[in-house]
Amino acid sequence: MGEANSAAPAGPVDPASPVGLADPASPVGAVSPVGLAGLVTLAEIEAIARTRLLPGVLDYVAGGSWDETTLADNGAAFRRRQFRASVLSGVMAADLDLSTTVLGRPVPTPFGVAPMAQFGFCHPDAELPAAAAAATAGWTFALSTLSTRSIEEVARACAPGSPGGRWFQLYIQDDLGVSRSLVERAEAAGYSALVITVDLPVIGYRDRDLRGTGLALRYGNLPPVGDATTTTIGRRHPPLTWDLIDQVRTWSSLPVLIKGILVPEDARLAVEHGAAGVVVSNHGGRQLDRVPAALDALPGVVAAVGDRADVYMDGGVRRGLDVVMALALGARAVFVGRPVLYGLTIGGEAGVARVMEILRRETERAMVLLGVARVADLRPDLVLEARW
Ligand code: FNR
Ligand code: LAC
Repeated sequence: MGEANSAAPAGPVDPASPVGLADPASPVGAVSPVGLAGLVTLAEIEAIARTRLLPGVLDYVAGGSWDETTLADNGAAFRRRQFRASVLSGVMAADLDLSTTVLGRPVPTPFGVAPMAQFGFCHPDAELPAAAAAATAGWTFALSTLSTRSIEEVARACAPGSPGGRWFQLYIQDDLGVSRSLVERAEAAGYSALVITVDLPVIGYRDRDLRGTGLALRYGNLPPVGDATTTTIGRRHPPLTWDLIDQVRTWSSLPVLIKGILVPEDARLAVEHGAAGVVVSNHGGRQLDRVPAALDALPGVVAAVGDRADVYMDGGVRRGLDVVMALALGARAVFVGRPVLYGLTIGGEAGVARVMEILRRETERAMVLLGVARVADLRPDLVLEARW
């Protein structure tokens, strides 16, 4: 059996209060709707959130592993490519159609919220406002195994419907019975896919978290390990292998995605083991450092998978330009991590909605300027490869 991971923030537990906020007395609504409307980039939202979160929590959310080389490169990879833009296409804003299909199902936008642990660090209602914002904006919402609120509570927050769908992200637990019950609960609660994250056999060496004192909340889905002050990621798990993936697949009829793929041969194996999709991801630069940026890994995986499965990506998406670039290089949809937590921190549901609105508007603006009206028409030849 695997070692318990042990680098997460640990400390007092109070699931009822927004322990991650520097000023718990005014956790939300501190940025008014008017104030939110005045924020026009995700960078501005992040800058405000950074002043609101306790240092240990900010380190956990914003930080990466080792030298944070991959963390930085996730963003840089977008900026070292350029668009190959033709003019006079005749495309107008009114022509734009951001809809696409995700796992064969029509969705209104090619965006999703990446699965992240413990939204309760950023807001007293944790995942609920973010899931509600996703449902309204037509984003796919991927719920982490390590969420603060439960699978069922989050499903209810999305009622009556979530056109982007809800996925459940599985960290396979040491007790396969517990793991299986998570999957069954997700299926029963209407989640439409299972995302198995495979890049965390052990926590990355996260200098900031190792130094910090941090804080921990109880998990919404899992029994505590040991005493109630279980750390954010201090879970045990069995050896992670393709055989185990085969086993997990039999637990439900949900399509399975493998998250954390970076090399073509693993993408091929994922397809051979029945995955309906892969998520090209380096865990936001939080696991093995000095692996390629997600965007750099994307084309090789797309080529390996072909049309046998969907390819998604996350890591460093901060501007609509990034969205368009990732879609052009073959991602079916892009997932966004930290910016969602920052929006949640500064404005609850409205803050997350603002993050989503900014990304959508930026994406639309970029598509008109590229002369491309539909997501399916974003092709690799719109991107000039990096000139390192
Ligand atoms: C994560 N990520 C993550 N991934 C996962 O599969 N399960 C999880 O519980 C978590 N937890 C988590 C917590 C926090 C605070 C962060 C920032 C990230 C990784 C996440 O799904 C995604 O891969 C990256 O966050 C994407 O990078 P960006 O958008 O944050 O740059
Ligand atoms: C993290 C784990 C929980 O990145 O996925 O912190």
